[in-house]
Amino acid sequence: MAPSARRPLVSGNWKMHHDHIEALHTIRDLGLRCKPEDVAHVDVSVHPPFTDLRTAQTLIEAERIPVALGAQHCNDHDRGAYTGEVSPQMLARLGVRYVLVGHSERRQLFAMSDEAVAATLRAVLRHEMTPICCVGETAEERAAGHTDARLAAQLTAALDGLDAVQISSLVIAYEPIWAIGTGNAATAVDAEDACLFVRQTIGELAGAEAAASVRVQYGGSVTAENAGSFLAEPDVDGLLVGGASLDAGSFLDIVRASRPVQRTRG
Ligand code: PGA
Repeated sequence: MAPSARRPLVSGNWKMHHDHIEALHTIRDLGLRCKPEDVAHVDVSVHPPFTDLRTAQTLIEAERIPVALGAQHCNDHDRGAYTGEVSPQMLARLGVRYVLVGHSERRQLFAMSDEAVAATLRAVLRHEMTPICCVGETAEERAAGHTDARLAAQLTAALDGLDAVQISSLVIAYEPIWAIGTGNAATAVDAEDACLFVRQTIGELAGAEAAASVRVQYGGSVTAENAGSFLAEPDVDGLLVGGASLDAGSFLDIVRASRPVQRTRG
C-alpha cells in the first residue's frame, strides 16, 4: 500500500462573486489564517473573477501568501478582435498558474463546445499554465447509466492529440452537474468511482505513466464537513470548491481536511 505520490490540489472557484475590494479582504484573511503546516502537503489555488486578478496577484506576491493564482476561463487566441474576451497570454503575464477550462457553467450557459474546450486547453498549455479541465454528467445522464460514456467522450474530445507529457501535467476536475451548487454532493464512493474511471480513461489515451501522474479533483457542494471523506479516497487528488471557497475560514477548513496519511491505495 504505497501512499499516492500526487500532491493534492484544493482550488477555490469564486465564479462571479467578490469584487476586487472583497477579493483583497478575502485573500488577506486567507494569508492571516493560513499556517505553513496547513499547506505542507497540499497545493491551493484561488480563481477570482478577471477584474480581481491584478489585485490578487499584487497581494499574494507582496505578502507571500501560499496560494497560487487561478482564472476561471480564457479565450484560446493570444490577441485579436474578440470583444469582451481575455487571452491566456494576459493571464500568464499576471502570474496566473491554473486556469479552469470547460467548467459546466461555461458549457451550459455560454455554449462552450468540446472543440472550444480542446482549443482553450491547448492555449493554456502553450503559455505554461496548468489547465483544470472540468468534466461531469447531468442528472439525466447519470439516471440513464451514461456517466462513464459521458466522461470518456468529454475527456477524449478535450485531450485528443496531446502527448503523454502534456496529459500528465493536467488537472482534471470531475464535477457531476447535479452536485454543483445544490448542496447534494456525490458520496465519497461515487466520487472515487468516477475519479478512478477518469484515471483509467487517461491511461487508455496516454498510457500508465500519465494516468499515475494526472491529478483528479472532485467538485460539487464540497464543504468543510465532507471534504475529508473525498480526500481520503485514493483517486481523489483534490477538490474544486465553489460556494464554500468564498469565505477564507471555510475554505481553509477544507484545505486542512487533506490528510496525506489516509491517502493510500488499497
Ligand atoms: P459548488 O461549486 O462547490 O458551489 O457546488 C463547485 C464548482 O462549480 O466548481
